[in-house]
Amino acid sequence: MNDVTSRYPTEDVEKPRIVILISGSGSNMLTIVDQVTNGTIDAEVAGIICNEPEAAGVQKARDRDLDVSVIDHRGFTSREEFDIALMRTVDDYQPDLVVLAGFMRILTPDFVRRYEGRMLNIHPSLLPKYQGLHTHRRALEAGDETHGVTVHFVTEVLDNGPNVVQAVVPVLDGDTEDTLRKRVQIQEHIIYPIAVKWFVEGRLEMISGHAMFDGTALPSTGVKLQG
Ligand code: GAR
Repeated sequence: MNDVTSRYPTEDVEKPRIVILISGSGSNMLTIVDQVTNGTIDAEVAGIICNEPEAAGVQKARDRDLDVSVIDHRGFTSREEFDIALMRTVDDYQPDLVVLAGFMRILTPDFVRRYEGRMLNIHPSLLPKYQGLHTHRRALEAGDETHGVTVHFVTEVLDNGPNVVQAVVPVLDGDTEDTLRKRVQIQEHIIYPIAVKWFVEGRLEMISGHAMFDGTALPSTGVKLQG
């Protein structure tokens, strides 16, 4: 006789566990948390980790009754030491997916290797353009007609892992860093939950350095959306 219980999971089946790392206002974290709460993303937010004790995102996460760990990087003498403490905290949450959502620390190779293939980042540019900081300013200074945001898998080279999804926005006459950032951030809040949903549903994976969607390699831009 067929075992029907294996085909019809009960409420007891564990959902994929997500840990979100933040440093700032936590708006991307909240969009993901909201979609987990309303069931759009079928997962559990196991915990939030922040390296900035005063970050606004810490209070926002606590207001949602999330488990929050604050690890102030200033309390460590080296990047390696901080990353070991960070790794221990991440591992305590037993995550299936680690989500960097405005986590403004460069991670050591050991840290990245540990979560490779199950760690995503969001970066406010059309990668590989403008890795690093001040992306909006650099797009404006270059006179670009378009700018945008990328979700990518994290690999050892900063802002260089395979792209999963990109949203393109126009640069408008009279744009300032602030107006451009706001236009980009609207797209961030759309594409990051999409990528997280794909991952927890098992549709998105990283194989041999390539981002794969439903078993097919994505183009180097990732899925490209016009904002
Ligand atoms: C976001 O705009 C994200 O793209 C950027 O930090 C911001 C965090 O905002 N990330 C990076 O620059 C990573 N290099 P949030 O705390 O409101 O989500």
